[in-house]
Amino acid sequence: MTATDIRNETSVPVSSPLAHRWSPRSLDGAHVLSADDLTALGEAARWAPSAMNLQPTRFIVARRGTDTFAKIAESLAGFNQVWAPRASALVVALAETERDGRPVRWAEYDLGQAVAHLTIEAADRGLVTHQMGGFDVDQLRSVFRIDKALTPVTVIAVGQYDPTADIDEAVRERDLEPRTRRELDDLTLILDI
Ligand SMILES: Cc1cc2nc3c(=O)[nH]c(=O)nc-3n(C[C@H](O)[C@H](O)[C@H](O)COP(=O)(O)O)c2cc1C
Repeated sequence: MTATDIRNETSVPVSSPLAHRWSPRSLDGAHVLSADDLTALGEAARWAPSAMNLQPTRFIVARRGTDTFAKIAESLAGFNQVWAPRASALVVALAETERDGRPVRWAEYDLGQAVAHLTIEAADRGLVTHQMGGFDVDQLRSVFRIDKALTPVTVIAVGQYDPTADIDEAVRERDLEPRTRRELDDLTLILDI
């Protein structure tokens, strides 16, 4: 099974990367992310819309094997530390929640949208992404001397899915669990069509 064998069940077809996107944890610990792939993920995020085009999105990007990668990995919560260090890159997604001393109202919304674009570009390239809220924000703040105007919101593991990866069985099993979603009707408060 490869990442692109996954197909998210939809009532009508959706575009290919949306149909194939998922967040596995069994990653190929030897995969090297190409410079083109890394740049394309950044470009996908860069062209996301944002409120008033403020672009309050920042990233710390590190390939596996670098000091920065190790520092990000050390900030991860227990379970995430079990699998995420096999990622080809770790990306800290930060929202510029304050500009010129004033709050940026939609900063986290805009960041989420930019990250969504990144994940879809990754899926289109046969890569996988796994976003994590489980990390120590204060630790990252202090290690990277992050300005108070910026808020680390998630860490994203980017890599190559490998169902045969030499990993904890519990991690492999999580990947094989059925993936579920609420029905579309449950998301729609009013449908006047
Ligand atoms: C903001 C956010 C935080 C998340 N935090 C974690 C996390 O700390 N650890 C983890 O293993 N998965 C985490 N996830 C992954 C979700 O559990 C996963 O996206 C969800 O179960 C849906 O699975 P899918 O992406 O394969 O469709 C997070 C996802 C998001 C969007």
